[in-house]
Amino acid sequence: MQNYVSQIKEGGIVAFPTETVYGLGASATNPSAIAKVFEQKGRPSDNPLIVHISSIDQLSDFTNYPLPKFAPQLMEKFWPGPLTIVIPKKASVLDSITAGLDTVAVRMPNHALALDFIQQTGPLVAPSANKSSRPSPTKASHVLADFGSSFPVIDGGPTEVGLESTVLDLTSEKPTILRPGSISKAEIEECLNSEVLEDNQQTDKPKSPGQKYSHYKPNAEVHWLTSEDEIDQDDTLFLLVNSETSEEHIVGYDGDYQKLARELYDRFRQADLHGYKKVIIEPFHKNNSPVAAALLNRIEKAIGK
Ligand code: TXA
Ligand code: MG
Repeated sequence: MQNYVSQIKEGGIVAFPTETVYGLGASATNPSAIAKVFEQKGRPSDNPLIVHISSIDQLSDFTNYPLPKFAPQLMEKFWPGPLTIVIPKKASVLDSITAGLDTVAVRMPNHALALDFIQQTGPLVAPSANKSSRPSPTKASHVLADFGSSFPVIDGGPTEVGLESTVLDLTSEKPTILRPGSISKAEIEECLNSEVLEDNQQTDKPKSPGQKYSHYKPNAEVHWLTSEDEIDQDDTLFLLVNSETSEEHIVGYDGDYQKLARELYDRFRQADLHGYKKVIIEPFHKNNSPVAAALLNRIEKAIGK
C-alpha cells in the first residue's frame, strides 16, 4: 500500500477497488496527474470526474458551506456508499475535474481499502478504471486487461455492487438522478421524504456529460429474450433472471438481481473472450429490485438503445 500511496503523491495514477467498480485514482489537487487519467482512459475532456473522499472534513476543499438543503441527510444515510452527489463547486476546484461546470461530483466509497488509501493520499479523482468504451472493471484482472499487466492496481477481489454509483444532482430545484445506481429513487425519496426526479439525458446538453457518450457494447450482440429465442443455441450466452438452470452458456440468477448486477460486466467481458455471437438476457421490470433500474439502464446501453 505504501508504494501506491507514494505513487499518488508523486503525481502518478493507481487503480483501486471501491464497492461499485475499480477506480483510476489520481490526486484531486494535481493537474498533471488528472491529465494523465484522461489520457490513459482515452476520455473526452468534457466528461467530468467524481472526487472520492474518506472523511467529511475533506469536503470543505471542494464546496462552500452551507451545503445544499438535502445533502447532510443523504450523506448521513448513504455515506460511505454508492451515492455520488453533485453540488456547487468551490472556485479553487480544478476545471479539469469538473469539465468547466460550476458543480462538482463527490462520493465517499464504502470499501475499507479505498478509505484507507484515500486517508493516506488525500482526495482522489477516480473514473471507472477501464479504457473508454470498455465495461467498468469489477475485478483487478479487468483493469490489467485494459491497461497492461504491469499497471499499478490495488487488488481487493471482485467488487460488491458491480455497477457504478447513483449520481444525484442537488443543484436543481428538486433532487435529480443523473445516473441510476444501486441506491434507488425510492430509497432516496424515503430518506428525504421528498420527490426525486430522473433526468433521462435526452438533450443536447445533458447535465451529466458522461451519459451522452456511447457505452460499452460487447462484440456479441446483446438483446432481450423473446419467445422466438431457442435456448439451445450454444453460440449465445443466456442470462436468465428467474431461472435456476445453469450450464456453461446458460446462467440462471434465480431472482438474485444483486448477483446479476455484480456479474454483468464480467459476463460481457467473458462473452467477448469466448467469442459468443449473442448475449440474450431475460427481461424484467424496474420495480423488481432496488438495483433493477440501474441494471436496465446499463443493459439498454449495451443493447445500443
Ligand atoms: O461508482 C462510481 O461512481 C465509479 C467508482 C470508481 O467510484 N466511478 C465512476 O466514474 O463511475 P466515471 O467517471 O466512470 O463516471 C462519472 C459520472 C459521469 O457520467 C460524469 O458525467 C458524471 O459522473 N459527473 C461527474 N461530475 C459531474 C458533474 N459535476 N455534474 C454532472 N455529472 C457529473
Ligand atoms: Mg465510467
